[in-house]
Amino acid sequence: MTPSPDLSLVTDEADEQSHFDELIAAEQRIEPRDWMPAAYRRTLIRQISQHGHSEIIGMQPEGNWITRAPSLKRKAILMAKVQDEAGHGLYLYSAAQTLGITRDEMTQQLIDGTAKYSSIFNYPTPTWVDMGAIGWLVDGAAIANQVPLCRASYGPYGRAMVRICKEESFHQRQGFEILLTIMRGTDAQREMAQDAVDRWYWPSLMMFGPPDDQSPNSAQSMAWKIKRFSNDDLRQRFIGMVVPQAEILGVTLPDPELHYDADAGRWNTSEIDWTEFHEILAGRGPMNAVRLQNRRAAHEDGAWVRDAAAEYTRKHAARTAEVA
Ligand SMILES: [Fe+2]
Ligand SMILES: [Fe+2]
Repeated sequence: MTPSPDLSLVTDEADEQSHFDELIAAEQRIEPRDWMPAAYRRTLIRQISQHGHSEIIGMQPEGNWITRAPSLKRKAILMAKVQDEAGHGLYLYSAAQTLGITRDEMTQQLIDGTAKYSSIFNYPTPTWVDMGAIGWLVDGAAIANQVPLCRASYGPYGRAMVRICKEESFHQRQGFEILLTIMRGTDAQREMAQDAVDRWYWPSLMMFGPPDDQSPNSAQSMAWKIKRFSNDDLRQRFIGMVVPQAEILGVTLPDPELHYDADAGRWNTSEIDWTEFHEILAGRGPMNAVRLQNRRAAHEDGAWVRDAAAEYTRKHAARTAEVA
């Protein structure tokens, strides 16, 4: 005799799925306690944790310049910016935790090298002007990517992005202002600025991910309204934003093919070097090993703080129990 299937479970799951689909179609938010498809949860955990890791690893290229910033004012601004990035990491880890992954698991994935983070943070920052180019181009690309995420269908993610985007726009302006100041300096300073723009322009275009026809998960993320625009559309928006800003700065974007095709309504560009992008994502970028090694060392150095906090909680709970 074959056991009859439990039809009540099947119906419940179908009901849940159609309720979820209705919420998505109506631009409503999915909240942590709502039913959601397992693949939606998995996708969000992967995306939000990778995003959090990018913020945390992203503190390193600029943290590198805090002690050498050219004035007290520049130092204070840069320090505030790097602290903001730590905050972004924390909001994002908290948002990911609402989906059932722990902070320890995420940290472990990052330090054992199994988690991915944005390829952009594996480039070196050899000069002070890199702080300007990163703020202008890297934080600028982050804004273009992240503003649509404020409307992501998963509530905790979208809400975290609202505050993050406000802070990112401060970052972008401080970077632009560093470059503007340098461009008003000597010929040697202008050359340094141009060199930094040459090094950061292409990697910042790669931040939007592979071209649409090579981005297999994009369609599903757009159907779930996590993602609102395709990689190529976001890249186009970013180029449209930086071209007039480059003119104001007086720097040249390092792409001789770059021009606006008015008929197609799009920017034409040279081919992006996707081999470089994939090499870095695979862990073979110029700074991958250093970034992870620093993160691991920071985690180990912080063990006593975590132990002390756990011990405090234990003692506090024991004392409360005694009083009760
Ligand atoms: Fe950030
Ligand atoms: Fe930022």
